[in-house]
Order: sequence, then C-alpha cells, then structure tokens
Amino acid sequence: MTNYEIAVIGGDGVGPEVIEEGIRVLEALGDPAFRFTRLDWSSDRYKRTGRFIPDGGLDELASFDAIFFGAVGDEEVQDHITLNNLILPIRRRYDQYACVRPAYLYEGVRSPLAGQGPGDIDLVVIRENTEGEYADIGGRVYHQTDQEVAIQTSVFTRHGTERIIRYAFEEARRRGGRRKVTSITKSNAQGYGMVFWDEVFENVKDAYPDIETESLLIDAAAMDFVRRPQDFDVVVASNLFGDILTDISAITIGSMGLAPSANLNPERVNPSMFEPVHGSAFELIGKNQVNPLATILAAAMMVEFLGEAEAGAAIRKAVAENLREGRLRTPDIGGSSSTAEVGKDIVRRLEQR
Ligand code: IPM
Ligand code: MN
Repeated sequence: MTNYEIAVIGGDGVGPEVIEEGIRVLEALGDPAFRFTRLDWSSDRYKRTGRFIPDGGLDELASFDAIFFGAVGDEEVQDHITLNNLILPIRRRYDQYACVRPAYLYEGVRSPLAGQGPGDIDLVVIRENTEGEYADIGGRVYHQTDQEVAIQTSVFTRHGTERIIRYAFEEARRRGGRRKVTSITKSNAQGYGMVFWDEVFENVKDAYPDIETESLLIDAAAMDFVRRPQDFDVVVASNLFGDILTDISAITIGSMGLAPSANLNPERVNPSMFEPVHGSAFELIGKNQVNPLATILAAAMMVEFLGEAEAGAAIRKAVAENLREGRLRTPDIGGSSSTAEVGKDIVRRLEQR
C-alpha cells in the first residue's frame, strides 16, 4: 500500500478547523495511507516568536509528497506581512507555478446566478502563481511626505508565461470536455507585460489546433463570468487576474466554501500545495460553522495529483452525494449543520463505499 508524507499547515483563522476535517476524510480512505506532519506555521507563531516559518523550515518541506494548507490572514497582522512571509514564499520557492481552481455547480446547490443548473458551470481557472503582479519587486521612498513614491512592478517572463499557457492547453486536453482555452489580459491598458502575454498565447495556441481559443480583457471577463459562465472551460490568467476571477467563480457555484485550489509544480520536482480558496474567514472562527467541503475537495485534488485517481473520485462522489441529498450542510449553502457534522457525513460515505 502506498504511504504518503503530507506536511499540514493549518495556518490562521478557520484554517486549522477545516484542515482537520480534510485529514479525517483522507484517513477514511484507508488506502492509500497518509502520514501527517502538522506544522504550526501561522500568524500566532509570528506573534509569539517573530517568525512565521522557523529557521530551515522552508527547506524541510522539500521532503514531503504534498502540502495541505488551511488559510492565512490574521486580524492583528497586516496582510502583506502575513502573505509575503508564509504562503507566497512557499508557492515561489517550490515553483508551484500552476494554480488550478475548478468551479463546478453541484446538484443540490443554488447558484446566485439565475438559470444555472447542475453542471452548467464547469470551468477551471489556471492562474499563474509565481510572478506577474505578485512579483515581490518595488519600493517606497520619501515615506509619509507629500513626495512619497510607491512603485510595484509586474514581471512577465517568457519562461513563466509560456509554461502556464501551455499548462492550460494541456489541461483542456485532459478535461476533454469543451476543449476551449480563454486567455485573460488587460493589453489595451498595459502595453508591455499584457501585450507580451497575448503574443505568447498566440504562439502557443498553434501547437493545439484541436483546442478552441478566445482572448478576453479582464473587465469583460469579469462580466462574462456572471453573464455567461457556461461558455468557459479552461481560463488562463496572470496571478492577480486569476486571483480576482476565482473569487467570482467561487461564488457563482454557490459558496466560497465549495471552491478548492491546487498550487502545482507540474514537473513534480517539488511538492505541490492544496488549499481551500476561502481564506481565514474571521467571522466564523471557532463557531464550527465553516464549510469544510472546499478543503475536502482540495484533498481530492491532492490525492488525484499524487496519482490516486480512484481515491479522488471517491471523495468527489461523497461530496456530490452530500450536496445532492442536502440534509447535512453548513449555513453558507442554506443549512444549519456544523463543520464537524458535514465532515463526519463525508467520512461515513467513504467508509461505507
Ligand atoms: C488566494 C489568496 C491569496 C492570494 C492571498 C492570501 C495572498 O487570496 O489564495 O487567492 O492572493 O493568492
Ligand atoms: Mn484570492
């Protein structure tokens, strides 16, 4: 039986709560088996010790098969500090350049968009995850004066742009559905990086004549995610645009609490990281009300990426059945069950399979 070593970072906010539900679900699989190493990397740790990640910690992640991540963000620590010291270094250091964020409208869940039924929304956003607008380059001078200047630089490399666009085309082939890739930029206003991205997209697409293509500006795409979500299959976008679009796609499928995310190093040189899209959700901390399904679906993505297709499918099936039945669900999707009750329901379904 295969045994996987998983680094677990519950992190901040509701992260630790949902991650424990994800762990119970993975344990319920029985085969494959997992060994979980819980790391206390978080804003709490930062407040206690001055460090989010202990010395040498980042290096140690290399020895794991995957990283299972909860959330990051704390009411008492400025976001740019948390993010630039915990999650973004992991994504960059382990070259997890493909951020894969599927949005599927499950039977039994109501979309806030009129006229959308089960499966009508079935898209995946491939977000560039290591450079673009998130490149940690810039500076500030003349602090707190009228002359203050802040510069934030976006970085688009040929290497980085080509590989994410290629990944999107490969994903369209793997999914095998509509076989369409939509590329998102803002090349009408950002004449360097985004025009470059458009050119790379034009070049890469020639190698995929079997895939339909479309190129949209981010503002129009934001509108179309609401107006015609059923027309999207694979969407490829820069780091920031992908970030924004995946909050929209998450809510179109009924709740942020149903949206998983994978930060992949597709070459498997480094461990990949799996997390829910929703983040810390301060208002829900400790209430046992947060929806664990986004994390459980992230766990499904993790086992699938590890090569355990059957186990991944089993988790998805259990989630789909829970949602179809609609008996045990958290308040975000109209129920009154707790986090733990929903988690237990998924575990029960897996144990009975
Ligand atoms: C996400 C989050 C992060 C991001 C934050 C926490 C840095 O919003 O994973 O979508 O912007 O990448
Ligand atoms: Mn986000």
